[in-house]
Amino acid sequence: MKIQSVRGFNDILPDAITTWQAVEATARDVFELYGYAEIRTPVLEKVELFSRSVGEDTDIVQKEMYIIANEREGNMALRPEGTASIVRAYIEHGLATTRPTPEKLYYILPMFRHERPQAGRFRQFHQIGAEALGVDSPAIDAEICAMVCELLKKLNVSGIEVQLNSVGCKQCRPAYREKLKAYLQGAYAQLCQDCQTRFDRNPMRILDCKNEACQAVVAVAPVMLDHYCQDCHTHFTELQEYLGILGVDFQINPRMVRGLDYYVRTAFEFVSSALGAQSAVLGGGRYDGLSEDIGGPPLPGVGFAMGIERLIALLPQRPLAARLADVFIAVLGAAARKPAVSLQKDLRQAGIRTELEYQEKSLKSQMKKAGKLGVAYVVMIGADELQKRTVVLRNMAESSQQEVALTDIVSTLVNLLA
Ligand code: HAM
Repeated sequence: MKIQSVRGFNDILPDAITTWQAVEATARDVFELYGYAEIRTPVLEKVELFSRSVGEDTDIVQKEMYIIANEREGNMALRPEGTASIVRAYIEHGLATTRPTPEKLYYILPMFRHERPQAGRFRQFHQIGAEALGVDSPAIDAEICAMVCELLKKLNVSGIEVQLNSVGCKQCRPAYREKLKAYLQGAYAQLCQDCQTRFDRNPMRILDCKNEACQAVVAVAPVMLDHYCQDCHTHFTELQEYLGILGVDFQINPRMVRGLDYYVRTAFEFVSSALGAQSAVLGGGRYDGLSEDIGGPPLPGVGFAMGIERLIALLPQRPLAARLADVFIAVLGAAARKPAVSLQKDLRQAGIRTELEYQEKSLKSQMKKAGKLGVAYVVMIGADELQKRTVVLRNMAESSQQEVALTDIVSTLVNLLA
């Protein structure tokens, strides 16, 4: 039986890696400019970390976690997202006492969700994300949005709409939820099955159900926007002012409710119509109660995460396939092999990426390989040349060649490639 990869778990092949590396390097540059330091947390976490923060009733916790059952140590999950792990690590290592506030952390990590694979949705996917911990000012929420815009600009990604909402807080949300439920009660029979389940557990999620019948029901439903407490109102107003100062254009979407329960106040998604059904390239928001949900001290926080696969799908042009070597040594005849290996060592020591043919092959086949590697120069070395203490140097772009003394070939190539 031919063994293949697991559904929804993808290989990232060498030709694609150049794009991933370019995206990651740009993200690191931008995050470091904004004062973020990298953090890497483990793939495996206790299940409760996510059930208590992301929420017992969310799709992620109900249906999508990869769980490793362990009676003695408690069940564990492959992390479906990064925020809860980062807050856990911050508390566990006492970073509040050793590092400045806000603690600004970024991550580039694989995540795991047992969803139905389709375009833009995978079971192992990768997130670039950032979290700012310890500050509840909307200035930092706005700064995060501006940082993401800067990253998208640097990557030449356009056509993104920033959708913004405030989902209220523990003070004002309960009364609003009751009002929403009272409204939805009258249209219960029209709701899809999922939303009927959400009605008791999480009625606000009904607001952004993609089902047409549900959308018709919620089109005139009461929205959180009209029911904020004074603090939420001020926070949201100031957030919009800061976004204005930082030049971030946004649309307020009062029906946007994120699929994770930890959000309070700020919630945002960056969407692109070019992505099809999975239109969100990133999502984020504020989660001031998350730390307490997992047994930590009060700790405000805000952040975002962007799916790297979706981001790459939006890049206007992929970087050209990288040149895999600068020089290829074509070995002509067995006698030339050892001098060729010695020349390869000298060229590499001079910092030139040099490949050669390891097996006996015709010149034609070696030239084909040089083409696949994308080298700028081929050095041909054979019995005749060895006798004369020379090599033939071929310029691949110009299809020209010249004889060069063996003693001069390293310095010649160093100059040519400088
Ligand atoms: P999320 O909305 O669940 O938020 O995921 C963020 C992004 O990850 C999505 O916008 C999407 O680009 C990508 N993504 C999610 N699921 C998949 C999938 N199955 N396949 C491919 N890409 C996917 C979070 O994860 C929060 N932790 C974000 C956050 C950080 N909030 C505050 N801080």
